[in-house]
Amino acid sequence: MSENTRTALITGASRGLGLALARRLAEDGWSLVIGGRDAEALEAARAELSGAASVAAVPGDVSEGAHRLALAEAVRNSGGLDLLVNNASMLGPSPQPELMEYPLDALEEVFRVNVFAPLALIRAAKENLNSGAAIINVTSDAAIQNYEGWGGYGSSKAALDQMTNILAAERGDLRVYALDPGDMRTRMHQSAFPDEDISDRPLPEESVPGIIRLIEGDLPSGRYEARGLPEEPRIKELRVAITADDFDAARRFYGEGLGLPVADEWSGESGNGVIFSAPDTTVEILDRRQSEFVDEVEAKGHASGHVRLAVEAGDVGETAAALRDAGARMVGGTAVETPWGDMNARLETPDGLQITLFHPIEEKEAVR
Ligand SMILES: NC(=O)c1ccc[n+]([C@@H]2O[C@H](COP(=O)([O-])OP(=O)(O)OC[C@H]3O[C@@H](n4cnc5c(N)ncnc54)[C@H](OP(=O)(O)O)[C@@H]3O)[C@@H](O)[C@H]2O)c1
Repeated sequence: MSENTRTALITGASRGLGLALARRLAEDGWSLVIGGRDAEALEAARAELSGAASVAAVPGDVSEGAHRLALAEAVRNSGGLDLLVNNASMLGPSPQPELMEYPLDALEEVFRVNVFAPLALIRAAKENLNSGAAIINVTSDAAIQNYEGWGGYGSSKAALDQMTNILAAERGDLRVYALDPGDMRTRMHQSAFPDEDISDRPLPEESVPGIIRLIEGDLPSGRYEARGLPEEPRIKELRVAITADDFDAARRFYGEGLGLPVADEWSGESGNGVIFSAPDTTVEILDRRQSEFVDEVEAKGHASGHVRLAVEAGDVGETAAALRDAGARMVGGTAVETPWGDMNARLETPDGLQITLFHPIEEKEAVR
């Protein structure tokens, strides 16, 4: 195993979310320790995953101490742990009884699997947690919603949430997350809704990108929803590169006119360049019809061309005046109120690009 290989322990990785996550981590080069009670199903998962990764399969029940020790031993053998995912969980009796009728021995078992086992496993593995390791305890919206019939499973997940919360406070050196994967088309979900067609529920694979974002990102410890955590964009910066015939005029326009700070600047035999920093940047794509409509509204039909800059200003009138001083010219007359609720003005920059200045009208008036 290479020195850089990271190791993840995932409980309940023989099917459902655990297996979907294991597949993704294997593809990403992680080494895995996986668990589950059904040894045959776990071996099938191991055989599949080991095509892409080094995988140790440790069959057993997370509520049993001997199994947790065996998982910790496997982790030790793989050189320490970078990620522990407490994913294995128990729904309890189905159809789920209401709390007044919930058999107490069944409730105890649900808590043993969903609450005590995750903490006990973290404790069994604690000597082997590498620095910066993440712990993910898989929770559910049933922890915070009062769905009738979900009192056993829901209260166990609520306890898991709060345990996660406090562990995070006590162990600031670790990243400790409670992660709600959302509804998923899995065996557990089918057992919860035995008579329902659950084919409209998303597959567990759809919850995986959010979990990867949690693992690879630097979000603080806390509770997150997998589908509220989109993958990081592939790019780190979007830079608009403009060729200006009059370099000094363009420099003045973006520096003094728009007030952008210089991030880098150079001058040499091959020519001059300057990079300005800009606040939030977004990319807007319009189809031809929408683009012509915008041209009509804010520029009396003057076509903006293939690329137009759009800048949210504190005050369109004042900014337009500053930009005119910095060499821009108005296109299509004065500022206009748009049908979509903004105040817009269209100008042309000294380098020949059209630029829209806008501010939302309501927000502006609220400030006044
Ligand atoms: N599905 C949903 O809609 C949904 C929604 C919110 C949260 N969740 C949470 O998501 C997680 C994954 O659930 P899932 O839907 O993927 O379930 P699943 O398809 O039923 O898979 C559960 C996995 O856990 C293993 N497992 C169950 N009990 C275990 C035990 N006592 N010891 C060791 N392994 C055990 C199962 O294998 P064996 O049976 O062979 O042990 C299986 O590998 C759970 O924490 C669940 O509470 C699910």
